[in-house]
Amino acid sequence: MAERVLVTEPIVEEPLNRLRERCQVEVARRGTFDTEEQLVQAVELYDAVLCMLSTPMTENVLEAGRNLKIVANYAVGYDNIDVEAARKHGIHVSNTPDVLTEATADLAWTLLLGVARKINPAQRHLREGKFYGWEPTGFLGTELHGRTMGIIGMGRIGQAAARRARGFGMDVIYHNRNRVDESVEQDLGATYINSVEELVEQADILSLHCPLTDDTRQLIDDDMFHRMPSHAILINTARGPVVDEAALAKALHEERIGGAGLDVYENEPSVHTDLLTAPNCVMLPHIGSATTETRRKMGDLAVDAIIGILDGKDPSNIPNIVTA
Ligand code: GLV
Ligand code: GLV
Repeated sequence: MAERVLVTEPIVEEPLNRLRERCQVEVARRGTFDTEEQLVQAVELYDAVLCMLSTPMTENVLEAGRNLKIVANYAVGYDNIDVEAARKHGIHVSNTPDVLTEATADLAWTLLLGVARKINPAQRHLREGKFYGWEPTGFLGTELHGRTMGIIGMGRIGQAAARRARGFGMDVIYHNRNRVDESVEQDLGATYINSVEELVEQADILSLHCPLTDDTRQLIDDDMFHRMPSHAILINTARGPVVDEAALAKALHEERIGGAGLDVYENEPSVHTDLLTAPNCVMLPHIGSATTETRRKMGDLAVDAIIGILDGKDPSNIPNIVTA
């Protein structure tokens, strides 16, 4: 009998159809599997789960998934999955690296340019019928050329952000858990800074590209906002809990920093109410990887991993398996 796969909410069709040729696929309605309880009740029926970054794949869920062989996350970040518990229960975990790198770096730039050039208030001004002609002092933003970009997390996405920064004539400094190869540093023109505090003090733009781990949770806290230059702009396209959202809202309201561009939030899908009213803050609803091309490729990666594992392929030959 064909193995059963749960897809926790609808994704792009082409990869799903490929999965349907091989397995019995159930695509749940959006919102059905947002809680641990719902998953624990249903998961036993399935050999594989294709889940979202908002799906809580906790130890309880993995333990209840007696037949599970793989959890394929439809995201590069997999902090929603208890990977240690998955290992313990012999369940593989996959993610979707590479295919969303350029889309996510583009979105970091969308946010950065939006904040630096005051896109939100300027557009609002026009739409409200207040554009009476070119103004010598209206909506003065800040230039990126010659500024220093500080990157935390120099993985694929951080490197793609660094390449864009060079293209904009910016200097690049970075911090990463491990210093990247010298040849990569040279290629990117990026300088390693060992101390996060020092990086934060030197960066005109601080862009986060690290995964959410015990080390990075609340990394950018009140102390860091006090260290930032008063014109600094924070960009977060990584994970919300890397930033203390209340401290960020406070820093913005007190105009202790220049602005922020956010795609991710500490308690998604809710957003701190003080952020909603903060000045110089551009906010998007977690759309970093949201391009048609990228979402299809993410589907292909997830489906390939599921089919590979169910076919008994050696996990170390499946590049996006993170538990191999
Ligand atoms: C999106 O946030 C992802 O991790 O893919
Ligand atoms: C992961 O976060 C990456 O940079 O690819």
